[in-house]
Amino acid sequence: MIDCLELLAFTIGILIFLRQFWRILVVISRLYFGTKVTTQRYGENSWAIVTGSTDGIGKRIAIELAKRGFNIVQIARNPEKLQAVSQEIQQKHNRQTRDIVFDFGKDVTFKSYQDLIQRVADLDVSVVVNNVGMCNDPNKFENTLPKDHLNECIVNCYPMVMFTKVVIDKLKQRYAEKKLRTLILNVSSLAVNIPQSYLASQCGTKMLCDRFSKSLNYEMRGSGIDMLTLQPGMVSTNRTGFEATKQGVVTPEQCAVGALNNATSFETFGTFSHEIMNLFVLNLIMDFIPWKYVMIISRKIGENLVFKRKQA
Ligand SMILES: NC(=O)c1ccc[n+]([C@@H]2O[C@H](COP(=O)([O-])OP(=O)(O)OC[C@H]3O[C@@H](n4cnc5c(N)ncnc54)[C@H](OP(=O)(O)O)[C@@H]3O)[C@@H](O)[C@H]2O)c1
Repeated sequence: MIDCLELLAFTIGILIFLRQFWRILVVISRLYFGTKVTTQRYGENSWAIVTGSTDGIGKRIAIELAKRGFNIVQIARNPEKLQAVSQEIQQKHNRQTRDIVFDFGKDVTFKSYQDLIQRVADLDVSVVVNNVGMCNDPNKFENTLPKDHLNECIVNCYPMVMFTKVVIDKLKQRYAEKKLRTLILNVSSLAVNIPQSYLASQCGTKMLCDRFSKSLNYEMRGSGIDMLTLQPGMVSTNRTGFEATKQGVVTPEQCAVGALNNATSFETFGTFSHEIMNLFVLNLIMDFIPWKYVMIISRKIGENLVFKRKQA
């Protein structure tokens, strides 16, 4: 009997060890052997569309794509900010740009998305980055306003689903006609791997993005479309005001470069520190700490979380 129990314990120990070892191997392969997003892979002189490209992660992804030779379509609300990013792309990186003023919080009908895609009908689109998103300040759910949740649900969820819906035929056609691959990069969040008190609808809406993107990844295999989910942890953007000097906080540049070096991964956390943070969350917190304590940790983090937002 003791022998049997010992064997069982030994086998479980080995399986746990192998699982952790496998997760570490996956992280190493993502960090050091990823497939880079290049025009050689997706087509010379082709265009990348980036939603929410005028600030933070989206802006850095747009600029990094321009550096790698893509022309850029930007979609955001503020014309002055669009123009500033366009100028930088044209002058420093010698690429073409097209700016589209669009409010994902207001233009919510399917027709508005169809009209949006018409505005790039003449372009050879090879990359689509569904980045736009927003986040309300952390707060106890009972102290929050319904309109804020409505806005968060609309801006975080609709654009990824609806924009993918209207663009996907164009991408499939490109592969069918020219055998040229395309990429859809969807921005989710590391926060989906652990419940976030005081940020419930942020966590819930990003979960939709995460599952949407990963489910579609399975569905799209063989269609010529690479589907990548980016799950950053804390990034020092204007909307969060996190300082990049703090532990675990990375710059938008680091996040953008990491993501764009991982075209064919199923998911990426962008940077070394966020990959490690995710391993810690998955391996230690979610696997070994009982739910009762996970809940306490989540509430403590929520109570102490403050966004020091900066004016863009
Ligand atoms: N920062 C983080 O720590 C973090 C962590 C995990 C995941 N993420 C995700 O990363 C993405 C980008 O976050 P970020 O921190 O870089 O955000 P950000 O700095 O606030 O930038 C947001 C961008 O989206 C545009 N935008 C916002 N609302 C819009 C709307 N209604 N219609 C059109 N454009 C809109 C903004 O431009 P305009 O104001 O000109 O429209 C801006 O270009 C989001 O999906 C977010 O959930 C961020």
